[in-house]
Amino acid sequence: MRTAPGAFSLPLSVDRRSASPLHRQVYDGFRAAILARALRSGQRIPSTRALAADLGISRIPVLHAYAQLLAEGYFESRRGSGTFVSNLFPSAGARPHQAYGSRIRTLPSPARRRIARLARDLAGPAKRDPWMRGQGAFSIGQPALDAFPLRAWSSLIARHCRNPLARSLLYGDAMGFKGLRAAIAAYLRTSRGVRCETDQVMIVSGSQQALDLSARVLLDPSSAVWMEEPGYWLAQRVLRAAGCRLVPVPVSAEGLDVAAGILRCPNARAAFVTPSHQYPLGVTMSASRRLHLLGWAHRTGAWIVEDDYDSEYRYESRPVASLQGLDDASCVIYIGTFSKVLFPSLRVGYVVIPPALLDSFLAMRQAMDVAPPHFSQAVLADFITEGHFARHIRRMRMLYAERREALVAALAREAAGTLRVIGGEAGMYVTVALERRRDDVQIARRAARDGLWLWPLSPAYHDPHGKAAQHGFILGFGSTPTSRIPDAVRRLRALLTRE
Ligand SMILES: Cc1ncc(COP(=O)(O)O)c(C=O)c1O
Repeated sequence: MRTAPGAFSLPLSVDRRSASPLHRQVYDGFRAAILARALRSGQRIPSTRALAADLGISRIPVLHAYAQLLAEGYFESRRGSGTFVSNLFPSAGARPHQAYGSRIRTLPSPARRRIARLARDLAGPAKRDPWMRGQGAFSIGQPALDAFPLRAWSSLIARHCRNPLARSLLYGDAMGFKGLRAAIAAYLRTSRGVRCETDQVMIVSGSQQALDLSARVLLDPSSAVWMEEPGYWLAQRVLRAAGCRLVPVPVSAEGLDVAAGILRCPNARAAFVTPSHQYPLGVTMSASRRLHLLGWAHRTGAWIVEDDYDSEYRYESRPVASLQGLDDASCVIYIGTFSKVLFPSLRVGYVVIPPALLDSFLAMRQAMDVAPPHFSQAVLADFITEGHFARHIRRMRMLYAERREALVAALAREAAGTLRVIGGEAGMYVTVALERRRDDVQIARRAARDGLWLWPLSPAYHDPHGKAAQHGFILGFGSTPTSRIPDAVRRLRALLTRE
């Protein structure tokens, strides 16, 4: 029996011993694949010559089969460009077969209910919320891509793709590429005050994978976890997905209120924190709160997950050293990312693992996705060791300082009495609270119609409608040129006055 690999491995085979003639087998194979929608309208069909060669048969039966399929309307030929599957099912409702995915309806009901509930239980900002997809004034999580050294980056990509080493095409180390891990360890020791050796650094696909991995290793379903209130929605989502019980612990101007956490849940298994630059309020955890948090973790055996996502950029002082650097009992799992300092689609982050947990993290990582992809790691390692990274950070620190200053000044000029800045000493956003309680989600929806991408603050609380939830906005400035910021703030003021 021969099968037709074609461009996309057509689901087609012929059997010379079969009683059915070859042209009929080819015809039946195409017809069945089209009706089952394995082949879709507009998809190109191989030439008769190519298919005959792939199937190892003469061209005559293939010509017969094609002529029949064209005559019956399964195929259409376009002059000069080839043969294509016709549009047999103009509306989705006309599918002849049961839609794929209907199996969930046949599962026993508790399992079915659990699966159906999943999306709702994990809910955070919905994908359709306009601020999730906007690009322009105030959108968050978007660095100044126009200032990214694309030329240096592309030449490193070309270097690695032109002459790849054979071993770079094979399965890599589950901890990640050693050259990159060493470069990151050196950077973290000098710039972030992290205590680490290369062996403790694991490369992951962004902080998100590090959070997922930490939850899988450290927590059980129903483990209690302190979560900053308000906090990072994607961390909440990971912890909910792991079945944990989230214990919201309020954040004040000094960061996480450790005493309140101890009162609410003294025996939590872990705490998730962003001490260098709390997301979303933008405050920095004070030294005394840091020591209090570490003391609690040492006493109770709890873990601390430190998410240090953007603290390279700090404007009114030098970068604050990590919490992990103060930890004498190896209870901090330190997570970082290149999403802010380089660009988010790179999907490269890292986790610094306490030595006693290395084997468990390694085994879990292998179970999740085996190992990280090699090329982006090799390119990034060179980008760091050849000095581009440090230079980029220095330049971006100046650029963002200018953008932030323009934003803070415009807010003071245009929106005093309406918006109050509550945090913005670091990173690429400034958080503002509405002086008078108003519905920030509604305002953000309307702002999106004017091309202003305000990320509302209240959904970052456990109970966005509760008394404790502040209403306001997280205003990104990373991707907005300085000259456009005053106008964006004027439009924001006009919107708030109109509402
Ligand atoms: C608190 C926080 N942590 C981490 C990240 C980055 O996540 P990732 O590395 O998965 O892109 C972000 C991005 O917005 C963030 O706000």
